[in-house]
Amino acid sequence: MIDTAPVKRIAIVGAGTIGGGFAAHFLSRGLAVDVTDPAPDGETKCRAFVARAWEQLRELGLASAPKAPDFAYHKTVGACVARADFVQENAPETEALKIEVLAEIDAALPAGKVIASSTSALVMSRLAVKTRHPERCVLAHPIHPPYLLPLMELAGGDRTDPEAVEFARAFYAAHGLKPVVLKKEIYGHIANRLQYVIWNEAVRLVLQGYCTPEDVDIAVTNGPGMRWAFLGPFLTYALAGGEGGLARTFEMFGPRDAMSTDRAARIQLTPEQRQMLIEGVDEMLKGRSMREIAAERDTRLIALIKLRRELGTIV
Ligand SMILES: NC(=O)c1ccc[n+]([C@@H]2O[C@H](COP(=O)([O-])OP(=O)(O)OC[C@H]3O[C@@H](n4cnc5c(N)ncnc54)[C@H](O)[C@@H]3O)[C@@H](O)[C@H]2O)c1
Repeated sequence: MIDTAPVKRIAIVGAGTIGGGFAAHFLSRGLAVDVTDPAPDGETKCRAFVARAWEQLRELGLASAPKAPDFAYHKTVGACVARADFVQENAPETEALKIEVLAEIDAALPAGKVIASSTSALVMSRLAVKTRHPERCVLAHPIHPPYLLPLMELAGGDRTDPEAVEFARAFYAAHGLKPVVLKKEIYGHIANRLQYVIWNEAVRLVLQGYCTPEDVDIAVTNGPGMRWAFLGPFLTYALAGGEGGLARTFEMFGPRDAMSTDRAARIQLTPEQRQMLIEGVDEMLKGRSMREIAAERDTRLIALIKLRRELGTIV
């Protein structure tokens, strides 16, 4: 049974880059925070990290107190999670180590409280193998730094109770984050799988002598990357079809793409698969027209361009 009482105390297990970031985030959202990390300098580092992050949170108006509220630091996982309503595990990305850490958390955490893992790529079905309560173990992957970037990718393992995933989703959403729940777990989740496709192609282009690393970065940050702040690949391609949306994009660019742009890696879509994607985009649009989406994109792009001018990162 998942305990769905509101979260007042969160335990952060592993307080490096991500754990420190979560500590700052949840302190700024008014939660009591307990932290543990086995490194000898773990406490000093985490306190310094939170103090630095607090300055940025203040600059963004997300924290008003001049200093971060105090958090409790514990020497052991057991002491850290003993009073927790929710646990965010951020130990190093090694499957064998995380399996042990989750089992240790599970043994000490009060009944029904949810355990979330920040793993960048691993799946919960494997991470929870040594827990006695795999039903409360949820994948919850942030993007660095978690106190500035809102995405949280969630998924259950083969023995996770869907109620645990839903509880985690509602908890993150209520605390300033943007959860996305995968229908089923997959190594790398969504964001890292996408990032690595781009990364692999960037490396291939450079290694095969087509351009420099700088050229790749200019191409991304002055082109598609500016749109990606507001539009993901599906709406980008839907807009490419004008008023006809994604159905028109498939009609117009399908034959061309097969001949040129992505000859190397194109997925050959069946008509049924195309239809499924078109319907997925329609669902996302919620009745808004392509014209409306384009106007919204432009307003946001203009704001972004102004901001980047101010920062001196665009002419
Ligand atoms: N850095 C990123 O960009 C990023 C983004 C999203 C998710 N993640 C994921 O978050 C997790 C933590 O990554 P990070 O970048 O903060 O790593 P990190 O190396 O900065 O921090 C890991 C911390 O875990 C501690 N640790 C070591 N053994 C431990 C144990 N047995 N129990 C508890 N803590 C232990 C270490 O002392 C260290 O402070 C990983 O699973 C990683 O894949 C990282």
